[in-house]
Amino acid sequence: MTEPHAHYVGLMSGTSMDAVDGVLVSFFPDRVHLTCTHSMPYPAELREGLLRLVNNQGTPEDLGTADQWVGEVFAQCTNELIAASGIDRKHIAAIGSHGQTLRHHPGGPHPFSLQIGDPNVIAERTGLTTVADFRRRDMAAGGQGAPLVPAFHQWLFQTTAETRAIVNIGGIANITVLPQAPQDTVLGFDTGPGNGLMDAWCQQHWQQPFDEDGRHARAGTLLPQLLHALLSDPYFNAPPPKSTGKEYFNLQWLNQRAPGLHQANPEDIQRTLLELTVASIAKAITDDESIGGVYICGGGARNTMLMKQLTHQLANYRLCSTQDIGLAPEWVEAAAFAWLAMRSLQQAAGNLPTVTGARGPRILGAIYAGASTLSIR
Ligand SMILES: Nc1ncnc2c1ncn2[C@@H]1O[C@H](COP(=O)(O)OP(=O)(O)O)[C@@H](O)[C@H]1O
Ligand SMILES: [Mg+2]
Repeated sequence: MTEPHAHYVGLMSGTSMDAVDGVLVSFFPDRVHLTCTHSMPYPAELREGLLRLVNNQGTPEDLGTADQWVGEVFAQCTNELIAASGIDRKHIAAIGSHGQTLRHHPGGPHPFSLQIGDPNVIAERTGLTTVADFRRRDMAAGGQGAPLVPAFHQWLFQTTAETRAIVNIGGIANITVLPQAPQDTVLGFDTGPGNGLMDAWCQQHWQQPFDEDGRHARAGTLLPQLLHALLSDPYFNAPPPKSTGKEYFNLQWLNQRAPGLHQANPEDIQRTLLELTVASIAKAITDDESIGGVYICGGGARNTMLMKQLTHQLANYRLCSTQDIGLAPEWVEAAAFAWLAMRSLQQAAGNLPTVTGARGPRILGAIYAGASTLSIR
């Protein structure tokens, strides 16, 4: 029998802006049960508006509209998810909504991270308590506000059997290193571009949002000098804590680092961008001699060419999907935000200060009351 309030919803849309990923989960002491999943692409008009905002081509009017509209899409995703699950809403304790990142700017005198998708709209449309705005408290405490998934990775995936690396390949890629000795420090940081640069190049040259199964990359040849020039960006050698976003690793960055790209074969560039993702992830792994198993999650796990090249680069490691340790790769991030919502309601910390660089553990997120909160008062 289902205990009341045993379930949580997690909602995530990453920098790829491909779709809202929703999960309905329940947490047991040492595992997560994925009850139902649902992915909802953004309407084309909204996605175009979001891309314009990311590229500095929007007004405050556009920002407000997008904030409300993303909230509606997140709410619709939740309602469809719940309907498909057959779970009664009264058994759902809360939604954890990451929102849609438009900017992540952890440096400078005024660091900030901007996620939109109005949580008031989500709470109102679903009737469920909604936790959102997870990153900014960590930032206010001097942290990067990212990555936030390592605490969830630690809870779910840490084992005394081996030191594990969890690698999430979304628009940006991030790694969590879970030491075999539970008392040792968990590491985590953004390694650099994941699929984001590949997606942008593919869109520009073939008008396709991503290079399905790495077909264009497969048809191209690695340009070693270009790869070397890209890898010489100081980000890759900077020590953690560090986090980045599409506002840094984008086509403008590519053109600045490698002028004269238009003379090259687009497939060779696509291949070189894939190898950039591979090399920067492989570097993060080989820099840490203790790592045994490497577990991949995020949409990049579906790019067979990317996985082939990663396996080749990391021939001395056991490279698997997170499916092998209990959670399907496409739902790890959304499940993490369901877990972070649970942590917020428990008034427990959601950040790992050793990862983000924050001054200490912090309770993350703001809570927007659901309908039941009103009816009991
Ligand atoms: N079959 C596939 N072949 C190649 N790439 C894929 C495939 N499926 C998904 N992807 C990549 O995964 C990305 C989405 O991954 P996701 O983890 O949702 O990223 P984000 O968290 O940034 O939204 C897509 O933009 C695409 O680059
Ligand atoms: Mg996505």
